[in-house]
Amino acid sequence: MRLVLVGAPGAGKGTQAKFVAKHFSVPAISTGDIFRANIAAKTDLGREAKRFMDAGDLVPDEVTIGIVRDRLSQDDTANGFLLDGFPRTLAQAEALRDMLDDLGTPLDVVLELQVDDDEVVRRLSGRRTCRQCGHVWHLEFDPPKQEGVCDIDGGELFQRDDDQPETIRRRLEVYTDQTAPLVGFYETAGLLRSITAQGPVDEITERAIAALEAAVDARADA
Ligand code: AP5
Ligand code: MG
Repeated sequence: MRLVLVGAPGAGKGTQAKFVAKHFSVPAISTGDIFRANIAAKTDLGREAKRFMDAGDLVPDEVTIGIVRDRLSQDDTANGFLLDGFPRTLAQAEALRDMLDDLGTPLDVVLELQVDDDEVVRRLSGRRTCRQCGHVWHLEFDPPKQEGVCDIDGGELFQRDDDQPETIRRRLEVYTDQTAPLVGFYETAGLLRSITAQGPVDEITERAIAALEAAVDARADA
């Protein structure tokens, strides 16, 4: 299964990626997570990406496409992958299509997670991440037992630098301007499935898996 999750910041891409990737036995690849790992490791890439991320803007296409090309050349993607947060521009979508065409392994499906803007702001402003294991909590919707401490390993919880109100607004604008057009692009390509991504996490996971299995079955029948 080769699939892409597309959706606004805070749509729950990372949350759902974990469960959906496990269900289909493929690696979940998040460009945002790759950039944040580079920031933590203080690499040149991390320094460059941080400037854009802190402003809520996109990291330039050349940089991002190169990273995904490298990641998709690793052996663990032989049976497929789930991309979370890539592509985010039409140029990235075209580059992905071309690189997969070259390999003879085109995308199977693109799943759009739909949420409204108020829900995005609620989700992002309450998000807290464990500095040790990376688990993502939410102050209101999925709070840890003890404030500021991860239930799983006792790690310190932090708020992402780009989850400040001003930056959230900018990320939403960037999504509308640069990423939302991908929905039409993938609809035209016959790859798009969309689900409502509001409500309990497990119900969204069920909807996501049902939509993806239906898409794969429909293609097998075609
Ligand atoms: P990235 O890390 O991809 O951020 P994003 O797209 O803004 O999305 P988020 O990670 O904020 O949200 P999510 O949809 O994963 O939601 P989550 O599951 O965490 O990118 C960050 C930056 O990196 C970009 O701004 C850009 O600068 C750069 N970048 C990355 N990729 C790039 C690319 N391709 N090109 C250029 N630049 C790129 O959920 C959010 C919160 O809600 C959590 O607290 C969670 O617990 C909670 N939650 C989840 N589901 C539910 C639910 N059903 N009910 C209640 N709460 C829920
Ligand atoms: Mg994410």
